[in-house]
Amino acid sequence: MTDRRPGVVKAVIPAAGLGTRFLPATKATPKEMLPVIDKPAIQYVVEEAVAAGLEDVLMVTGRNKRALEDHFDRNYELEHALGRKGDQQRLSTVRESSDLAAVHYVRQGDPRGLGHAVLAAAAHVGDEPFAVLLGDDLIDPRDPLLARMIEVREALGGSVVALMEVAPEQIHLYGCAAVEATADSDVVRVTGLMEKPAPGEAPSRYAVIGRYVLDPEVFEVLRRTPPGRGDEIQLTDALQELAVRPEVGGPVHGVVFTGRRYDTGDRGDYLRAIVRLACEREDLGPDFRAWLRDWVREEL
Ligand code: UTP
Repeated sequence: MTDRRPGVVKAVIPAAGLGTRFLPATKATPKEMLPVIDKPAIQYVVEEAVAAGLEDVLMVTGRNKRALEDHFDRNYELEHALGRKGDQQRLSTVRESSDLAAVHYVRQGDPRGLGHAVLAAAAHVGDEPFAVLLGDDLIDPRDPLLARMIEVREALGGSVVALMEVAPEQIHLYGCAAVEATADSDVVRVTGLMEKPAPGEAPSRYAVIGRYVLDPEVFEVLRRTPPGRGDEIQLTDALQELAVRPEVGGPVHGVVFTGRRYDTGDRGDYLRAIVRLACEREDLGPDFRAWLRDWVREEL
């Protein structure tokens, strides 16, 4: 018998945060449902999971779960109305989100942090490695990241985080990784992790971004992880324990990402994402770019 590690088949998308940076828009709508042009941010994230071969998606939701559930479900009234009008194109757009993947839901209850949200997925995930995709972090589909992370987990075991080099004055906004080089130029061994380091304390410029492939052992660690920064149960703290005690759940590696990423939970990045993606869209791009060029020339 060959000794094969179980593959990664499940994706967990935490979407239970309060989204306070986007109030009042997020008072009654999860921030993951805010549109990036004409699709909610979270649909791009589900599409990314499916593109990496993960068709079992668990969303960790909070008090506003209704909009998320409705978006990934059928809408017979709308489908009927579009069908009667013969609008096949919009009909297929409406069906796209409900046909995408098998989407499951679990409630987090109190939003006590990302680590706590991931722990809510334990029963659904079971004893298998799994991916976590943050619902407000967009990775451009032209720069695939998750498939590479799964490959690294399959080759090296343990857990894999996504890292991006950021400017030193930005690192306090992220979890930060201390790293050692490996034989692969895009893979590093993570030797320590720190959530949102104070200026001058960051061990590197490598920021942890919102994609993870985790060993199921992380659940055991999360169960005993006390609230950390911001009084929240931090996934970074659990990963720090895994990084320094590889005998517990295997090593932690980082895949260094150099592609396009947008943090749609941040207002500035959200605007940049919309402008960049709109410029590149075949249907909207030509007119929008022409308008933008004139507008910048005349107004800025
Ligand atoms: P963020 O810290 O960006 O989300 O969490 P937030 O707390 O909603 O944002 P602000 O700062 O108040 O605007 C990253 C991801 O983790 C989820 C969020 O929904 C987001 O996708 N999250 C965070 C949870 O699911 N539960 C939590 O308790 C915290």
